[in-house]
Amino acid sequence: HAHFRCFCNAAILFSKFSPSPLSMKQFIDFGSANACEKTSFVFLRQELPVRLANIMKEIDFLPDKLLGTPSLKLLTSWYSQSLLELIEFLEKDPDDKDVLPKFTQALINIRNRHNNVVPTMAQGVVEYKDAFGVDPVTNQNVQYFLDRFYMSRISTRMLMNQHTLIFNGSVNPAHPKHIGSIDPTCDVVEVVKDAYETSKMLCEQYYLTSPDMEIKEVNCKSDKPIHIVYVPSHLYHMLFELFKNAMRATVETHETSPTLPQVKVRVSLGTEDLTIKMSDRGGGVPLRKIERLFSYMYSTAPSPVHVDNSRNAPLAGFGYGLPISRLYAKYFQGDLQLYSMEGFGTSAVIYLKALSSESVERLPVYNKSALRRYQSTTEADDWSIPSKEPKKLSKYESTQ
Ligand SMILES: Nc1ncnc2c1ncn2[C@@H]1O[C@H](COP(=O)(O)OP(=O)(O)O)[C@@H](O)[C@H]1O
Ligand SMILES: [Mg+2]
Repeated sequence: HAHFRCFCNAAILFSKFSPSPLSMKQFIDFGSANACEKTSFVFLRQELPVRLANIMKEIDFLPDKLLGTPSLKLLTSWYSQSLLELIEFLEKDPDDKDVLPKFTQALINIRNRHNNVVPTMAQGVVEYKDAFGVDPVTNQNVQYFLDRFYMSRISTRMLMNQHTLIFNGSVNPAHPKHIGSIDPTCDVVEVVKDAYETSKMLCEQYYLTSPDMEIKEVNCKSDKPIHIVYVPSHLYHMLFELFKNAMRATVETHETSPTLPQVKVRVSLGTEDLTIKMSDRGGGVPLRKIERLFSYMYSTAPSPVHVDNSRNAPLAGFGYGLPISRLYAKYFQGDLQLYSMEGFGTSAVIYLKALSSESVERLPVYNKSALRRYQSTTEADDWSIPSKEPKKLSKYESTQ
């Protein structure tokens, strides 16, 4: 009981602080030659509780019927437990030689505890949908919340990964120049090719065929390969999701034709943006449906037959590919957009910041304007709704 009270106080106290977004430069400084584990520890024992407590405040605003699902109960218990484990370090002395290794171990435990947050949350959403259906207001609130919730999760995992990778006392033998999960000279085309190859393998297992890729690179500054300071695993994640979608659409719309149109990728580096466009000829999606493709509520499908053998993982998941990829892009001030021509094909565009000085974390902040978003009620739309049958213009009819 004492523990519970302590947790409540902590949650209230830490949610009053706003998260401190870090820039790519700060991430790199934390991990360079003069990296100080103690400094990182002192920062994280405060910042991680702040980020967890901020998002926990927002969890409370979800519909009660969603909060009441077994999945959500499990998930909130993980958050409470992790917050408790972190705040224990507030009273620890950073100069005590046992403290730092214990903190690293705590971070590893927390990270593992939260491994299944996304499918667990998705399961909760499916349970809610099956029981109560979907309405536009709930969809909008859940969308607002989940974008923030998953963004918060991306950010806390980033912080925990950096600390555990940088201070584990060894360099990554495969990537000695990486700083934690950051590659200071990330070769974008290499990552595109990697993601293409993996997706191609899945596609061939599934459909026994796969489209080729054409890739073009344009660097406005020189004709050297394009490099940025970025987290290659985030970039890979986005590209892999886009390739799976492009390949599935391509194969399924050309089932009867002997050849498949290529998936075309263009990478360009400007002074402000690094842009990656992936275009397929997979038949496209009507404009009306584009927004739904990013919706957590409308697009959640029950998770595909669970296969432990990841080599059999299907090309489509439970509908979170696009929304989560867009969050990865937005996390460092980029974006992901879909442009489609129904009947022809789709272009997906990833925008990233070209300059590392502009790649700064984008984090949800729990404050009054967030609160207002959750309290918004059902109001009439302020644009006219198209009706199927136009109103009868009786005045003219009667004269016929
Ligand atoms: N390139 C594309 N061409 C046609 N449809 C697409 C394309 N990308 C996405 N979609 C549609 O959007 C849906 C959602 O995509 P996604 O978020 O990746 O989830 P999933 O692939 O798990 O269904 C897909 O099921 C598909 O119907
Ligand atoms: Mg997908």
